[in-house]
Amino acid sequence: MKSETKSRTARRMQGVQGEAAFEMLSRANELERQGRSIIHLEIGEPDFDTPEPILNAGIDWLKRGATHYSPTPGLPELREAVARHLSSRHSAEIDPGNVIISPGAKMAIFAVIHSVIDPGDEVIFADPGYPAYEAAIRMAGGKSVPVQLEEANEFRLSLEEVARRITPQTKMIVINSPQNPTGGVLTLEDLQRLADLARRDDLLILSDEIYSDIYYADPPASMLDIASILDRLFLVNGFSKTFAMTGWRLGYVVVPADIFRTVDLFVNNSISSTATFTQRAALEAFTPNTWKAVNKIVREFERRRDVFIDGLNRIAGIRCLKPLGSFYLFPNVSALGMPSKEIADRLLDEAGVAALPGTAFGRYGEGYLRFSFANSLTNIETAIERIDKFVTNLP
Ligand SMILES: Cc1ncc(COP(=O)(O)O)c(C=O)c1O
Repeated sequence: MKSETKSRTARRMQGVQGEAAFEMLSRANELERQGRSIIHLEIGEPDFDTPEPILNAGIDWLKRGATHYSPTPGLPELREAVARHLSSRHSAEIDPGNVIISPGAKMAIFAVIHSVIDPGDEVIFADPGYPAYEAAIRMAGGKSVPVQLEEANEFRLSLEEVARRITPQTKMIVINSPQNPTGGVLTLEDLQRLADLARRDDLLILSDEIYSDIYYADPPASMLDIASILDRLFLVNGFSKTFAMTGWRLGYVVVPADIFRTVDLFVNNSISSTATFTQRAALEAFTPNTWKAVNKIVREFERRRDVFIDGLNRIAGIRCLKPLGSFYLFPNVSALGMPSKEIADRLLDEAGVAALPGTAFGRYGEGYLRFSFANSLTNIETAIERIDKFVTNLP
């Protein structure tokens, strides 16, 4: 018998949004195919090549037969290298047994949220913010509780506001510092206060520190510097941004010991394991030569950031804060008097500049655009000229 009411897609998938960066990229690519000149400032990935030692190790390990399954939580050597790296940077002593390697930080976020969130559980996160948190919470049946980031507070999450939003149903708080899309950075005091809240109300913390190596002032504080939080902390990081390895798909998460088996089961039953040769290659990531390459890239990002900010702030109607980390600018364009989505669409169609509307990161992103400055100085200068001309020609 035919049912009229049976939905062919799961209810929990309804309302799930995709990452706008990928949609904007395909629109921009289509215009390029039609012969238009487009400057790509939409996608969040370094424009540099993966450092040579990692690249060569990847090729070498492919030839040496690192083409079989790896253990579900990752190769012991890489779990040890990650634990050693994190322990050398922070006051926490990380046990390799708590590290899970994943095909990208995004998968680690998805695995953690699906391992701990029940339908009806509330998860607090920053808005604007990386959209994969909301999507994963929705897919797990959880309830999203966005907290607005304020430009006046340099896009630092307000801990007072977070405290106000905690209810008996709150299970987890997600933080991201340095932050996508604003470049905001939380201070050690912010993290300490967050840890105090988590302990007081028995909450879990997911700290996404994927931009931890891309900063332009003091090294950003890490949740791993707060000893009292380790038993309730999921520390997510990865290789994509620091080592220009987005396409390799490699990330990791440090998981509290008592929850490890659950997350490991999730990974086991979804992806089995992460690719083996990419893990072998990543063993070259934490070496002095590779760090030298990373430092060079970050200094170059800083140069571009400064040129881009100065250029944008010279345009009437645009105002932009200096991000302390990440490779994004999040200018306020509310004075242009159009919704962010319309500005981003028109910038692409009329000026050949691909950017994202702030609303791609949540409703509190209205009035903003996100530009990636992971592009050449020449392209950034051309983009500034094009944006300037576009704004000047607005009625
Ligand atoms: C805040 C944040 N977390 C996680 C990711 C995902 O990184 P990966 O490529 O390791 O999946 C991104 C990528 O844009 C990001 O911006």
